[in-house]
Amino acid sequence: MAGSIGIFDSGYGGLTVLREIRQLMPEYDYLYLGDNARAPYGTRSFEVVYQFTLQAVRRLFDMGCPLVVLACNTASAKALRTIQQRDLPLIDPSRRVLGVIRPTAECIGNITQTRHIGIFATPGTIRSQTYDIEIGKLFPDIRVTGQACPMWVPLIENGEYNSDGADYFVKKNIDQLLTQDPDIDAIILGCTHYPLLFDKIRKHTPSHIHLISQGEYVAKSLADYFRRHPDMQARITQQGTIRFLTTEHPTSFNESATAFLDHPVTAEHIHL
Ligand code: DGL
Repeated sequence: MAGSIGIFDSGYGGLTVLREIRQLMPEYDYLYLGDNARAPYGTRSFEVVYQFTLQAVRRLFDMGCPLVVLACNTASAKALRTIQQRDLPLIDPSRRVLGVIRPTAECIGNITQTRHIGIFATPGTIRSQTYDIEIGKLFPDIRVTGQACPMWVPLIENGEYNSDGADYFVKKNIDQLLTQDPDIDAIILGCTHYPLLFDKIRKHTPSHIHLISQGEYVAKSLADYFRRHPDMQARITQQGTIRFLTTEHPTSFNESATAFLDHPVTAEHIHL
């Protein structure tokens, strides 16, 4: 069965990943699903994030997607492995679900000189230690320090990312991270929402520290996946369309999504 690439996030953050994927591969069809009504996921338990993510993946499969990208670190950290190993073989072994953490972990080896890196992410992603584990497998010499930023996603979901309040919380978490490890020379923005705060994060981070937004790496990794799996690539329809679904009211989604994507968006409401 052929269909669109499904892109899932708890809310708007996955749009930063969609934007990069689409820039690299505009020929494909995309179906974006934001679970805005239940965002943020970052402070929710393992079990709840897993259940919500599985519902979203099933829905995107029902709508014909052969492949779903979890464009959400929290869902990738807490649900991806179980869905890949336990659910997918039962639902449909020919479909695929990919995450964003592995492609981001792969890029870090060439970027850090000090071999000390930091991760900004939701409390759920930091608690899961998924970045530490993935980076440890690839680059055992790199020291990874995580910093949970519980206020960043709510600031973004509420349209407050340009406010003075955002400056306060961004600076606070940067200072906390660099106090834990002053030798850090690269920081992964390990939440797909964070590119929206990029200017503020840059402003409060010493200029010698690299900031890594993951969209670009996830997009390249997906293109590489298609090169290695031409059978999957052949199942993705290619009319260059994009459709947006949200579990919240479409009007507020349309307004906020436009800021993320720089073009007008017309979303449809769905229940999960
Ligand atoms: N954008 C998501 C991530 O990458 C999560 C945000 C949230 O819902 O807490 O982790």
